[in-house]
Amino acid sequence: MAQRTFSILKPDAVRAGQTAAILAELQKAGFTIVAIKKMVLSKPQAQGFYAVHAKRPFFDSLTTFMSSGSIVAMVLEKENAIADLRKAMGATNPADAEPGTIRKKFARSIEENAIHGSDGEETAAFEIGYFFAGHELI
Ligand code: CMP
Repeated sequence: MAQRTFSILKPDAVRAGQTAAILAELQKAGFTIVAIKKMVLSKPQAQGFYAVHAKRPFFDSLTTFMSSGSIVAMVLEKENAIADLRKAMGATNPADAEPGTIRKKFARSIEENAIHGSDGEETAAFEIGYFFAGHELI
């Protein structure tokens, strides 16, 4: 059965003009875009999104980075979407990412790593609801 997941093209990728190239990778990997929007997060909005990481040493830097420019927020759909997106993205640190993955091709560093994808069903539900209202998910 089709599953939905949530993804962000991060400010590093959008700034570098990689939006269309990464969307093409996602299309090639079989994802359908259910909803998409380009926006700039405020720092409090970034802190709310990454609240689960609030105690991590990189939290302040991460939320400053995530509010440093435009992002593209998306809801993606396919069978096994959550696991398949994480496979397509590759490891958090692009230095550890498999060849052919999005982070290997496009990311700059463990923080500026081009793309976010939900890590589980509960997270996906929270993250989709953080960015999109029900009426936008048709
Ligand atoms: P993401 O998949 O969006 O989830 C949390 C983010 O925190 C991660 O991608 C990276 O952007 C960032 N991150 C994770 N670990 C580190 C780290 N050790 N140092 C800096 N940033 C990190």
